[in-house]
Amino acid sequence: MTGDTQALRGRAVTFADDPFLHPAQDCLVHHEDALILTAGGRIAAFGPYAELAPSLPEGVEPVRYDDAILSAGFVDAHVHYPQLTMVGAYGEQLLEWLQRYTFPAERAFADPAHAGRMADLFLRELLRGGTTTAMVYCTVHPHSVDAFFAESARFGTRMIAGKVLMDRNAPADLLDTAERGYRESTDLIARWHGQGRHHYAVTPRFAPSCTSAQLDAAGTLLREHDGVYLQTHLCENPAEIAWVRELFPERASYLDVYAQAGLVGRRSVLGHAIHVHEEDFCTCHAQGAAIAHCPTSNLFLGSGLFRLFDAADPRRPVRVGLGTDIGAGTALCQLRTLGEAYKVAALQGGRLDAVRAFYLATSGGARALSLDDRIGRLAPGHDADIVVLDPRATPVLEARTARSESIEDLLFALMTLGDDRAVRATWVAGTCVYNRDRAAPFRHAGA
Ligand code: GUN
Ligand code: ZN
Repeated sequence: MTGDTQALRGRAVTFADDPFLHPAQDCLVHHEDALILTAGGRIAAFGPYAELAPSLPEGVEPVRYDDAILSAGFVDAHVHYPQLTMVGAYGEQLLEWLQRYTFPAERAFADPAHAGRMADLFLRELLRGGTTTAMVYCTVHPHSVDAFFAESARFGTRMIAGKVLMDRNAPADLLDTAERGYRESTDLIARWHGQGRHHYAVTPRFAPSCTSAQLDAAGTLLREHDGVYLQTHLCENPAEIAWVRELFPERASYLDVYAQAGLVGRRSVLGHAIHVHEEDFCTCHAQGAAIAHCPTSNLFLGSGLFRLFDAADPRRPVRVGLGTDIGAGTALCQLRTLGEAYKVAALQGGRLDAVRAFYLATSGGARALSLDDRIGRLAPGHDADIVVLDPRATPVLEARTARSESIEDLLFALMTLGDDRAVRATWVAGTCVYNRDRAAPFRHAGA
């Protein structure tokens, strides 16, 4: 009996523990020749080929990935799918950038057909970059969420997404109201949360675009619906922070604006958190809130340098995931994000080694999204979401990795020089949905 059993064979890496809290050598699991058996969309077995080969069901021939590295699919903890068309918008910092480029791009989503086309393009580009789960901002239009989840269902991806809530300080045609945002979010939660592999995120854009009434309504939504997420932005840019202080003079801090509305908890993912204080990290730790580190965005908009090692301090660790933050970020592929995360750490005198980096892109991201029981690791019972990396994808990578003598160095070369060209294949729930080397690279689940 083979059923829908699949097998993949190749070199593989995954994580047994958190390398920010434990020695790296105790965390990285590396098999030179591994077998991954999948069944029913999950990983049924993972380990050295020599040990598992006898348990291969009759008739199941492993897909061989020679000269490649298999890993759990990448996790993107913060990204805006409607902003794909405006990546690389010239010359502004956050607040002007929003007005000049972002809001016009999001206005185009008033057209449901545009939303459908962009959702399809976005998901393909995510998969081309090896990302299998993302936490996604849609626009203020409810149909932008329908379009996104409908496309995601075709690929079978595990995704978190929500309608942006915004009832002030944006163009009139992009505003909702506290009441309307609440009602539309309630409908979307009923339609999508817990459907297949989909999860809903209540999404107040950021404090300046939401009245207290809207933030309170977001808190009500979280209390009313088990397991829904909260995503928003925090302390990204000095002018933004000064504006929040003006808009909410009664609050102790930017984070306190969210905390007072009941928005800071275990399912909250706060984007950026660059200019935060020690008390803020303590609050995130105590409440269990996670942070999305978005290095390409923070460098592109000149927002600042996130203190990754401070956030992850083992005395009061805050869960951190990696976000691409398209369209302020400049790449959808987490390999590029890791390369920039290294530079952000280096600019502060720190070193982001490959083990910690790949942890952040996979298992750490899954933890930040409270999905670590489902995704982020190659382990029995986890979803069979897998990326196949090619350390010889380009002439420069080939020349560089020919000299690699350790898996750590191979991974470091990939995160420094790699991009979507180094993603050979992406598997979602046990189906190869993307194969770089096929004439038609994409395939929907079950197709
Ligand atoms: N703050 C509020 N909205 C946004 C956005 O769309 N992108 C980024 N980077 N920051 C924001
Ligand atoms: Zn963002």
